[in-house]
Amino acid sequence: MATIEDWKGRVGREWADKADAMEGLLGPIGAEGMAALGSVSGHSVLDLGCGAGDTALALAARGAEVTGVDVSEDLLAVARTQPGAERVTWRLADASSATFEQPFDALHSRCGAMFFDDPAAGWAHLRTQVTPGGQLAVSCWRAASLNGWVTIPLAAARPVLGEEATQAPPAGGAGPFGWADEAYVRDLLTGAGWSDVALTPVDREAAISTGSDPDPVARATAFTLRIGILASRLRERSEEERAAVADALAAAFAPLVREGAVRIPTAGWIVTARA
Ligand SMILES: C[S@@+](CC[C@H](N)C(=O)[O-])C[C@H]1O[C@@H](n2cnc3c(N)ncnc32)[C@H](O)[C@@H]1O
Repeated sequence: MATIEDWKGRVGREWADKADAMEGLLGPIGAEGMAALGSVSGHSVLDLGCGAGDTALALAARGAEVTGVDVSEDLLAVARTQPGAERVTWRLADASSATFEQPFDALHSRCGAMFFDDPAAGWAHLRTQVTPGGQLAVSCWRAASLNGWVTIPLAAARPVLGEEATQAPPAGGAGPFGWADEAYVRDLLTGAGWSDVALTPVDREAAISTGSDPDPVARATAFTLRIGILASRLRERSEEERAAVADALAAAFAPLVREGAVRIPTAGWIVTARA
């Protein structure tokens, strides 16, 4: 669904263009993932799939010595220009095989853990990059069918694109729902040598697209046409279909505006473990 090659290229570029729009959607579950680490002051933390750097910077602001690793040059270029970026060490690498100078006290990821080509090998390798007993905290999505940022756009687009093209994606594979299945995550991490694996569900309201456009419906519509499940299914569609979907999205989003943003329910996991 979204491979490392996708992130290195087109998908990374699209996210980099919308970097200021991500915090609204990922912030609420991400806050829980960072909280699961407890106090990080003075700890070395690897932020896996750091993207435009929001969580790496937040952890550095809490006193951690952070390395942010990502495969996307475009996203790292955004991260490097964020306020406070000089506090973080940024590294362009595939975290599933990269070796770091010293093992970290903790490994954190906000929605960047589910894209490895070979998850079993990648997670076994990452365990060696964390001090024995060191913490893992990952925030990620539960089933697509529980997440309003997927279901609401797909339902809105259904009259235009039809049933088949608007089904929620299944759990599993390399992509945003790669860790949706609890048993899969447990087996993956335990098999890779991690211990004390625990998954805690978090249901949080989130905003589709923070960012600079003052009109929340226009902002959420533009974001949804560019990023995510519906966007990928629209890629081969005609201009007319895209315009009809844009109208349908705006109509679906308008009643969901509160406090300046389109607000939707999200369902995530906070996955914790020890190396
Ligand atoms: C859904 S985005 C999340 C970005 C960021 N953590 C955030 O919360 O804004 C997933 C990120 O993981 C990165 N990524 C995917 N596979 C990776 C890998 N094997 N090594 C390093 N980064 C990876 C992507 O380039 C992308 O930046």
